[in-house]
Amino acid sequence: MIKVGVVYHSVCGSTRTLAEAIVDGINGNPGCEGGAFAIEGAHIIQGRYHNPELMLRLDQCDGIVFGSPTFMGSVSAQFKAFMDAASERYSGRGWVDKLSAGFTIGSNFSGDQLNTISTLQIFASQMGMLWVPLDIVPSQDAEGRNRSGCQSGLVAVLESEGAVHELDYHTALYMGGRIGRLLGRFQQL
Ligand SMILES: Cc1cc2nc3c(=O)[nH]c(=O)nc-3n(C[C@H](O)[C@H](O)[C@H](O)COP(=O)(O)O)c2cc1C
Repeated sequence: MIKVGVVYHSVCGSTRTLAEAIVDGINGNPGCEGGAFAIEGAHIIQGRYHNPELMLRLDQCDGIVFGSPTFMGSVSAQFKAFMDAASERYSGRGWVDKLSAGFTIGSNFSGDQLNTISTLQIFASQMGMLWVPLDIVPSQDAEGRNRSGCQSGLVAVLESEGAVHELDYHTALYMGGRIGRLLGRFQQL
């Protein structure tokens, strides 16, 4: 069974909705099992993220998708605490060669979400992971997915407090499906 973890932080629920859509997309592939893992503030003690169980679950995954709301033009403080805690895996090279991808949401159309995606992409590179970009060309997509036009990852724009736009939801489903499909192909090599 191919395993993919979707690790995210969410305050009002929109990032969680995207994470769950990505998991649904992953699970749409036979032989793939996706799981959503929330970063909780309760696991941050004196500024440090501590959740060894989550790290062990992620160790067992073939791919990890990272998601954070865009807060002040970057990942949330809670997600950054998780990234810093993952530095244990950096030195141990624990996540090398796993597939990775990223998603974010902000309330503005150009609210600096790309910086969040770039931060996630650089994080994945530091970990030695393989980054999967979004391959939907918006002008060529009959369903209108990837409406923000970002290719590096999924950039969503908030519909209303906690609510995700339908097209962003479908882009998230697609992203999960693509990760699962690619992992299936790699398994056959
Ligand atoms: C502290 C804070 C900073 C934010 N900064 C940005 C920002 O820089 N750009 C943006 O587009 N939206 C920004 N937002 C809006 C959030 O990204 C948006 O509400 C998002 O959907 C929250 O995700 P959640 O529903 O998963 O908590 C900010 C919100 C908060 C509370």
